[in-house]
Amino acid sequence: MTVLYLDTDVGIDDALALAFLLAADTAPAGIGTVFGNVGVDQATTNCLDLLALAGRDDIPVAAGVGAPAGQGNDGRVHGSNGLGGVELPRSGRRPVDGSAAELLIGLAHRYPGELSVVALGPLSNLAVALRLEPRLPELVRDVTIMGGAALVPGNRSPVAEANILDDPAAAAAVIAAPWPITLVPLDVTLDHTLTEPDRQALLAAGSPLPRALGAILEHYMDYYVGVYGRRACALHDPVAAAVAIGAAVPALAPAVRVVVDDTDGPGRGQTICDLRGLRAGRPDQPGAHVRVVLSLTAPFGPQLVTRLVGGATG
Ligand code: BDR
Ligand code: CA
Repeated sequence: MTVLYLDTDVGIDDALALAFLLAADTAPAGIGTVFGNVGVDQATTNCLDLLALAGRDDIPVAAGVGAPAGQGNDGRVHGSNGLGGVELPRSGRRPVDGSAAELLIGLAHRYPGELSVVALGPLSNLAVALRLEPRLPELVRDVTIMGGAALVPGNRSPVAEANILDDPAAAAAVIAAPWPITLVPLDVTLDHTLTEPDRQALLAAGSPLPRALGAILEHYMDYYVGVYGRRACALHDPVAAAVAIGAAVPALAPAVRVVVDDTDGPGRGQTICDLRGLRAGRPDQPGAHVRVVLSLTAPFGPQLVTRLVGGATG
């Protein structure tokens, strides 16, 4: 049995990932929120509202780590509220007592060896959980992380991806911990997109969650015109979620040594992946516990739209 714990800074692609997991009948057993695309309070509100729209008020949500003083997001990518400025009906539900890290630890103890962790935001909650429960890597089955840039430029700095740069010390600790990690970096997530016709298909769907996602995506596609030069958007978090549950299959995914630069220099937030063996055709390194996904076997956008439009998403 696979049990999921989802950790998320609920912005637009996080919302797509959550809806995909629900539609694929792999609802998380618990969700922890974290700062990143928005502050942690807004991320928690977004998470509760999306779950209510999907009719999934049964899934526990715990609030996690907030942004360090002075660090904030300007809303350019995900909009003022993280959901493209679209106001969802308020769920009225409150997060559960206890922190996201405590929720994760509780699930790891309840399902030893069965819990898959999916991290779609800064790795702050996971780092806190590792400090509180050093046995976590023995209890958890695997960890899938959307983050980093292996062989491509960053998106928040020339070398750093946003989730890693938001808390490099946490990322360094989580990636160094001895649990099986699948890292899903920009190398692969930027290769998979939704387009304007996909958005129109969501807007025309019969249930409220995909319709809301169609509206929310307007802002995301506006932003991504500056990246792709056309109305399309990257599927960072949905690709990671799909890899975690086996719905997207990695084509090239070597297990290699990865370290995170948590210094204050220009490389801060860089995920340094030792891919020197790649051209020699023997990229797996003995003992490496981080698998870096560089490509998938098939385009993921069509599967995502089909699931969201046709799936049990409220
Ligand atoms: C990652 O950062 C956030 O903006 C997205 O939600 C995604 O998790 C992409 O760099
Ligand atoms: Ca995210």
